[in-house]
Formats: sequence, structure tokens, C-alpha cells
Amino acid sequence: MIHVFDMLPLSIVKNITDFYEFCDFTDGSWSGSANKELKYNEQILDEIHYPSLVQLMDKYISENAEFNYYFLPRGHTHPNFLRYKEGMHYAWHNDMWILDGMKTDYSVTCFLSSPDEYEGGELVIEVGGKELEYKLNPGQAVIYQTGLNHSVKKVTKGERKVITWWFCSMIDNSRNREIITEFSKLLAQLEPEHPLKHKFETIRHNLIRENAII
Ligand SMILES: [Fe+2]
Repeated sequence: MIHVFDMLPLSIVKNITDFYEFCDFTDGSWSGSANKELKYNEQILDEIHYPSLVQLMDKYISENAEFNYYFLPRGHTHPNFLRYKEGMHYAWHNDMWILDGMKTDYSVTCFLSSPDEYEGGELVIEVGGKELEYKLNPGQAVIYQTGLNHSVKKVTKGERKVITWWFCSMIDNSRNREIITEFSKLLAQLEPEHPLKHKFETIRHNLIRENAII
């Protein structure tokens, strides 16, 4: 299952992209491959600004009630603040099963640039032999099961800014995880005064209780 989620409000996106204007960038090959045929991007890692950006994102992720309600994160990695300039890309690959000492259940790509600010740069995810392409609006994120093959098409014009990170779910079994997330998403659409809302919430709580690892 691949989820498109409104992760960040535009005010936060603006706050983060302001950092992109004056931060120093490091060659993205510091993590993963140094082979630019495979991975060619840049990221913010400087000792002055990067910690502030991490703090901003950590706070926002932990306080995002909708995100926590749907996806039940147990923990998450540090976020990567990336840019792909003209000619940059990330070839087909599979993310590590463990990052920052944590099992990776979900991969997240949150778009910061508008689709009309750059050409190419689509995130492509292979599911069941089909290639699904994502190029979303600022603040929107693609959340997908880590382990799916994916790539970033070469940027042919402009600049693609994104944040990526990974999180571990409280629900260890991937099938149960998807069922609970789908149920939570449906439940969130019910009006608070719906006569079955309370009973469904009780079922959700019990499902989580039976499956959650804290
Ligand atoms: Fe990746």
C-alpha cells in the first residue's frame, strides 16, 4: 500500500526551504553509494543548521496527530534534507532494513518544491511489476513500505527539494499494519456524532492493543 499524505503545512515548507538558500550542502554519497551512476544528490548536514532542521521536523512529526493516528510510528530516523539539481538522480535501489539502529517499516518522501519548479525528478515505485510515479505538491508526502524498489528520475531542469526519512511501526506484522491503517483512515472520515463512531474506535483500540509493540 502506498499512501499520499498531507504531511507539512506550507508555512513549515517555507521555513525549511529558507534554510536551503544559505545552508552548505554535502555530496549525498556520504551515505550509501559513492557511485554517481547510482546515487547523485546533495544534502544538508552542516553542524550549525542541520540540528535545527532535525529539531523542527522531529517536533512536527511527533505533534502531527493525523500522522500518528494513521501510521502509529514507534520511532523514526533522522530526516534527510535533499536537493537534486539538474542532472541529479537516484537509480533503482532498495532501502536498508535497518537505519539509525531501527528497523525500517515505512519510507517517506516529503516534497518541498512545486512540480512546476523542475522537470523530471519523479519518485518511481515498483509495485507488482508496475511503475508508479509521484511528483507531489509542497508539503505532500509519499509513505510506502520499505523494501519496494524505487528510483528518482533524472532532473532535467530546475531543482527538486525533498525530505526523506524512515519510521518503524508499532505494528510489526505488515499485513495487520495495513489493515489497521486502512481502518483508521476510514474511521477518521466518520463524523464525531456518527452512532457507530465510539464502537468502531473501541474496536480500533483493541486491534492496536493486540498487535502493538511499544
Ligand atoms: Fe531510497
